[in-house]
Amino acid sequence: MSLNLGRTEFGNPANKGRVLSTEEANDLFISWVLNPKLQLHMKQVAHLMKSWAKEKEELNDADQWRWEMAGLLHDADWDQWPELHCKKIIEYLEEKEIDPEIIRAIASHGPVHFGVEPITKMDKMLYAFDELSGLIHAYSLMRPEGYHGMELKGAKKRIKDKAFAANVSREDIEDACARANIVLDDLIQFIIDRQAYAA
Ligand SMILES: [Fe+2]
Ligand SMILES: [Fe+2]
Repeated sequence: MSLNLGRTEFGNPANKGRVLSTEEANDLFISWVLNPKLQLHMKQVAHLMKSWAKEKEELNDADQWRWEMAGLLHDADWDQWPELHCKKIIEYLEEKEIDPEIIRAIASHGPVHFGVEPITKMDKMLYAFDELSGLIHAYSLMRPEGYHGMELKGAKKRIKDKAFAANVSREDIEDACARANIVLDDLIQFIIDRQAYAA
């Protein structure tokens, strides 16, 4: 499913810093996303975004929430309106006068699909976490111990095995790391160490 958004400007610069409250974001999340697997994916990406903002970018609480919110809502319309992904959530957040940086990050989480280049660090990290998070979660499901004791080596093997989680684009993972200027191994390890704590 692929919907070119046909535009590159999102939101209104005057709304910088405006966010949904955690309660508003959770209400939206619960009413739009009914599939538990998708819910988990979005929570995992939200957790990774928040962790990265805090640990690597050393951002304050308000900025951490902006990153987390982008992760939490990036696939909000995928469950019920897949043909409108991610146009619907973007337009909703624009109507709500939300920070344009959050809207832009969501709009650029699949450059090949949506036709929007990831530019900011928030854009790039959302793009980088999206596919790789899913692959590592799939790997945890085939291990009797789940995330416990998971090693970089094993995760890398699964990336090389194209038949494993075949819907996860290896090209996107490579492209995202290059854009974010991150070594793939470091990104995998970051996810392994934190993803089990998302929920
Ligand atoms: Fe998506
Ligand atoms: Fe996603």
